[in-house]
Amino acid sequence: MGKIKVGVIGVGNCFAGLYQGIEYYKQHNAEVTGIMHREIGGYRVQDIEFVSAFDVGENKVGKTLDEAAMAEPNMVKWINLPKSETIVHPSPVMDGISKYTEEMIKPKRIELSPELEKEIMDEIKRTGTEILINYLPVGSQKATEYWANIALKTGCAFVNNMPVFIASNPEWEKKFREKGIPVIGDDIKGMIGATIVHRVLAKLTADRGSSVANTYQLNVGGNTDFKNMLERERLESKKISKTESVQSQFNERLDDKNIHIGPSDFVPFLENTKIAFMNIEGRMWADIPYKMEVKLTVDDKANSGGIVADAIRLAKVALERGERGAVIPACAYLMKHPPEQMADAVAKQELERFIKEEA
Ligand SMILES: NC(=O)c1ccc[n+]([C@@H]2O[C@H](COP(=O)([O-])OP(=O)(O)OC[C@H]3O[C@@H](n4cnc5c(N)ncnc54)[C@H](O)[C@@H]3O)[C@@H](O)[C@H]2O)c1
Repeated sequence: MGKIKVGVIGVGNCFAGLYQGIEYYKQHNAEVTGIMHREIGGYRVQDIEFVSAFDVGENKVGKTLDEAAMAEPNMVKWINLPKSETIVHPSPVMDGISKYTEEMIKPKRIELSPELEKEIMDEIKRTGTEILINYLPVGSQKATEYWANIALKTGCAFVNNMPVFIASNPEWEKKFREKGIPVIGDDIKGMIGATIVHRVLAKLTADRGSSVANTYQLNVGGNTDFKNMLERERLESKKISKTESVQSQFNERLDDKNIHIGPSDFVPFLENTKIAFMNIEGRMWADIPYKMEVKLTVDDKANSGGIVADAIRLAKVALERGERGAVIPACAYLMKHPPEQMADAVAKQELERFIKEEA
């Protein structure tokens, strides 16, 4: 099999985790713990290559990708990376930076211009980039739409890892379908993340015949993602994405006032450790109450890397098969806000069927 040529938008912590994870598997070929699919369409995670990259950070733009992935404020330092030939190119800042992260990222304020766009498109063509993966900060509505348009113009498949709605927005999805390009999104559902655990518990309460009175999920962490989310105005789509993901698993929708899910605070010393507190209160046999509390402690970036490694390989398979628009089973299993919500067990079955399908 050939390699998968990927371009990255936002060389942040999540990307550093994906990149270093792939390097880990190159160095530990026999140990495959932590990978959902050894192969998808014949591709292994080691077949993913990052051939183009775009960012705004003063200490990332102009650097080789290995240097940029290790540059502050990134915190993932799991493994040494070999020298990369990919140079990080500038991206327009637009709404990518919040007032809380400006000081950490120190963006190069390169304005949107036809020259910049030409430079970006030339780089994508020169490098043979076939899939663009979007890791922009929460709240980057305009910048994400800008990059979705670049995917449409260059014919790249688009994997949208964050909560601006592209695959799950019918207008955007139609644009990808009409251009004959696959799109997978929106907003990664971590491997053992708060969303998947909360969804499974929500489904359990429904399947076991109990009723749920209320539920909440509070998340804290200490990386740039959490600092960015201190700006509450940037959170609208993140809150919808996280809340609907859990809401969709109950037999009956909870009243809005009885469900609260979202990022809650920035605790600097936690760095990439994310702690999620989940609570469900309900009633069972003979209307007797029950209550469950779960605390989940995870490395936020290890949580997303494996999911994106699958999404990239599924996007490649979709490209090879001439799939158009949202790749529904991939979106449903891997993302929090897909075009179509399914129970995770059903989404997994659909995904396995998609993987086995003939071209
Ligand atoms: N488990 C997870 O970590 C997880 C799960 C679901 C979704 N996400 C989402 O993935 C996204 C990335 O998370 P992260 O932790 O890597 O964030 P991060 O803040 O570490 O990285 C964001 C990167 O984007 C760059 N950037 C900002 N504006 C830009 C622009 N206009 N153009 C190009 N680059 C720009 C920043 O310089 C930074 O390098 C976030 O939206 C996050 O919510 C993460």
